[in-house]
Amino acid sequence: MYSYQPSEGHGLPHDPLNAIIGPRPIGWIASADSQGRNNLAPYSFFNCFNYRPPIIGFASSGWKDSVRNIIESKEFVWNLATRPLAEQMNETSASLPHGEDEFSRAGLTPLASQFVAASRVAESPVHFECRLSQCIQLTTANGTALETWLVLGEVVAIHIDETLLEGGIYQTAKAQPVLRAGGPTAYYTISEEQRFDLVRPDAR
Ligand SMILES: Cc1cc2nc3c(=O)[nH]c(=O)nc-3n(C[C@H](O)[C@H](O)[C@H](O)COP(=O)(O)O)c2cc1C
Repeated sequence: MYSYQPSEGHGLPHDPLNAIIGPRPIGWIASADSQGRNNLAPYSFFNCFNYRPPIIGFASSGWKDSVRNIIESKEFVWNLATRPLAEQMNETSASLPHGEDEFSRAGLTPLASQFVAASRVAESPVHFECRLSQCIQLTTANGTALETWLVLGEVVAIHIDETLLEGGIYQTAKAQPVLRAGGPTAYYTISEEQRFDLVRPDAR
């Protein structure tokens, strides 16, 4: 085994951490500042953490505009990043000055939400409208505060393009989700051929 302690460096050409924990779904997070200006950015330290009510979250390395806006407004929108939108999703990661709108930079259309002030990405086929539930500053095991914030939000509304519902079943592969792998540039998507099913022991 190649073994190392992360606190002492990995000693490899590229940090394998996010290549191992991958591919990851992308939190494509739309928020608005107190003046109603749109903000949009991708976060791959992202996942869903609770079913009922649904709670999703992302981690920001640094106090970025998304965190600042969400702390102010207490709301955000998650948008599904799909393969046709991958290049535009990537464009929205540009470090723009606070208040500059990544929707227009990436040629995306803001769509008004029903319950929150933040806009949705009209081109994206799935949107979750969220209300901030917690913002947690991460610490090390010995309690040292890190410049990383975990933002968690309750999903209060879900919008799904009906072409992704076949017989009422959401078609994960049909949506072509963009998944982040390791290194500076690697991504994957999925196809139906890669699917397999397992029945849980308790359900047999
Ligand atoms: C695919 C992808 C995933 C990213 N994931 C993260 C992440 O998990 N955490 C983070 O802090 N930055 C992440 N970034 C970088 C942010 O998107 C970037 O810093 C962005 O400018 C933040 O925007 P904001 O200041 O408007 O929130 C990611 C970038 C890309 C392209």
